[in-house]
Order: sequence, then C-alpha cells, then structure tokens
Amino acid sequence: MKKSIVLGITGSIAAYKAAELTSMLVKKGYEVYVIMTQAATKFVTPLTLQTLSQHPVYVEMFDSPQSWEIGHISLAQRADVVLVAPATANFIAKLAAGLADDLLSATLLATRAPVIIAPAMNVGMYENPIFQKSMQFLKEQGYFFVEPDEGRLACGTTGKGRLAELDKIVSALEEIFSAKHELSGKHVLVTAGPTREPIDPVRFLSNYSSGKMGYAIAQEARERGARVTLVSGPCHLEPPAGVDLIPVETAQEMFDAVIKHFDTADVVIKAAAVADFRPRQRAAEKIKKDEAVMTLELERTPDILQHLGDNKRDQVLVGFAAETENIVENARAKLKRKNLDLLVANDLTEEGAGFGVDTNVATLFFPDGTTVKLPKMTKRELARAIIDQVIKLLTTKKRMV
Ligand code: CTP
Repeated sequence: MKKSIVLGITGSIAAYKAAELTSMLVKKGYEVYVIMTQAATKFVTPLTLQTLSQHPVYVEMFDSPQSWEIGHISLAQRADVVLVAPATANFIAKLAAGLADDLLSATLLATRAPVIIAPAMNVGMYENPIFQKSMQFLKEQGYFFVEPDEGRLACGTTGKGRLAELDKIVSALEEIFSAKHELSGKHVLVTAGPTREPIDPVRFLSNYSSGKMGYAIAQEARERGARVTLVSGPCHLEPPAGVDLIPVETAQEMFDAVIKHFDTADVVIKAAAVADFRPRQRAAEKIKKDEAVMTLELERTPDILQHLGDNKRDQVLVGFAAETENIVENARAKLKRKNLDLLVANDLTEEGAGFGVDTNVATLFFPDGTTVKLPKMTKRELARAIIDQVIKLLTTKKRMV
C-alpha cells in the first residue's frame, strides 16, 4: 500500500518550492494530501498543488467535505507522516502553543504520526530566542526538524533561514519510513567528545577524543525513534539531524547538563572521554614562562558515570572504558563499581580502535558475566550493535511499551 504524506504549506515565500516537493514525492510513489494555510494561498495557488498531488487541496477548516470522511481528524489519522514545508515562525509558535485555529494546526494537534518541520524565515526571526525556544520545545516533544540552510534570503539579507534543500527534506522523510522505531517514546541521553579543563585564559588540559563514537550513537538512537539529548564536549562534528545538542566544555559543565536530564532519561550512554583531573586553580591571567620548571596542581573532576550509577532509578546505564592493559579484569571491575548495565571496552592497543579513527574494536561486558567480543567495525556499526543491546536491556527490564 502506498504511504500517505500530509504536506502542510504555510505562508512563506518558499511556498512555491512546495510545488516541486509535491511533484518529487508523487514521483517517488507517495500519496500526497496537501493542506495549505490561508497565507500560503497568497504565494501559490491550491490549483497548482491539486494538479501536482492529484488530490483535492484543503484550506478551510469548515469547507464542505469532498466526501463524508474528510476533515482534520481523518487527515490526521490517514497520515503516515505529516510534513510541514515551508513552516513559518508564526506557524511553529502556534504549534508550540498547542493552538488549532485552522485546518493545518488542528491536523497537527490531532495526529499521532511522526511530524517533520522544515522552517523557512528571515534570519532575525530564526535567531530570535522566542522562536528558538518554540523550536527547542517541539524537538523535546519528538518533532523532527530539517533545519534551514544558510544563504541569501528573499528579504535581501544573508544568513540561516532558507528552506532546506528539497533533497534533504525528502531524505529526512525516507529515513523515518526506513527506520525501525523500537525506541519511539524513549529518551536517550548520550555524552560525547573530550572535555577541556582550563589552566589559564588561553590554555587547557584535554584529550584526543574526536566525538565520533558518541555522535554515531546519538544518530543511531534518533533514527530508531528515540528523543535524543546529546551532551557534547568541543568537537568538529555536525550534530545528527533531530538531536537536541547541549554543548559543554568542562567535566563540571558536562556533569551539570547530564544531571539536569537524568530524571527523564530511559537510557544514558556515556561515550565522552571526560578528563579525570583538572587544574586546582584556573589562573586569572595568562601564566608567564618565568620559571624553568612549572608545577600544575591537579584535582579530581566529578565522576559523572559513578554518580549516575549510584543514583540510578531504572535507567539503562552504558559506560565506556578505554584500556591499554588487563582489559577483562578492569572492565569487570568498572562495570560493578559504576553499577552499569553494559560496559563497552575498547582495547586501545588493537589496530583500528580508539580515538580519532572511524573504526573501533570493542568487547561488551554485562553484569551477569556474559561478554560479546565484536570484530573491528565502523563506529556507526558499533553504534548499531550497542543500541541493539540497549533495546534488549530495556525489554528485559520490561519497560518497553
Ligand atoms: N567518566 C565519567 N566521568 C569522569 C570520568 C569518566 O563519566 N570524570 C566515564 C566515561 O564517560 C566512560 C567511563 O566513565 O564512560 C570510563 O572512563 P575511564 O576514564 O576509562 O575509566 P575510570 O572509571 O575513570 O577508571 P580508570 O581511569 O581508573 O581507568
């Protein structure tokens, strides 16, 4: 059976691109039902969309129905996915407020289908904290966003706000259809990257972590339907689409961000390479090289994973261990000490394992004493294997809906 997409079009100059989008989706074999806001009809005519979608186009909430069952409830139920492209700042604010004063907003409020929003607006509106707050809130509710591109905007300015490339929007949609959504309704908290512990205003202690492992896990969890919060130390990676990124620098900041989201999390995966020590003092001014030898006094950072293990309720807790010797004994001890449900141990001495590279060699350790030794694989493949195990752990804990 053909998949049904309800395509919402709102009143942005980018509305004309929705005609091309409709045509692309129809060519790919989807049934497309278009709902336009009144404002959208000023930019592109319903007749255009009707011709391209080969279905009637809906605008008014109280139009006389084309057949007995058409209306916002039946459109909401019929949708396999609801896609709003372009979505204006006004429409997104309405959605965040739960308003339902036209057919499109009423359909969105009523639907249980996944919703993808592709915003388009002026850069000032996009950057406005009021808009950002609405978008953030919707992301937290599980809405998928295809973020706008940067470039020249219709209003003459340059910046972020241009409707994302149509190919990107179609890929986001296809990802939803292809993904198995075993984690839908679950909140997965992932940490990634290194931390930086400041010495003075221009220097810090850190490590070689690239963040690749944690970002791959965040992406995999998201694609399998979870709401994902990614707490990341400084790294040069694009956050995966639809993931809620919280950038941090120090171990203390990572601790605070993780604790803030721990209560609502069903799963916590701590892939970050957290600094174990930080300078006891952060010099207020740049340290001068007056002495031939310099001593830095270090103190322990908070052990985030230990704190989570000590305080966990029913969350599935996954830790990482980077080892260079006695991997089995160290991993078992760490699993027990930190009260983990799964420990992913990397043997840093193996070729293709550890920091910076795209592959990893890992062994999984479970509290019941079982281990799974995985072959060398890409970090993305390892992410999939870890999420598979997490799903099993959630199921055994009987917390899957
Ligand atoms: N970790 C953490 N907070 C820290 C240090 C580490 O949450 N301050 C987490 C890491 O994210 C990782 C796990 O603990 O998931 C393992 O970190 P690692 O430094 O390898 O192990 P430790 O338990 O600190 O033990 P040791 O340094 O003795 O090997």
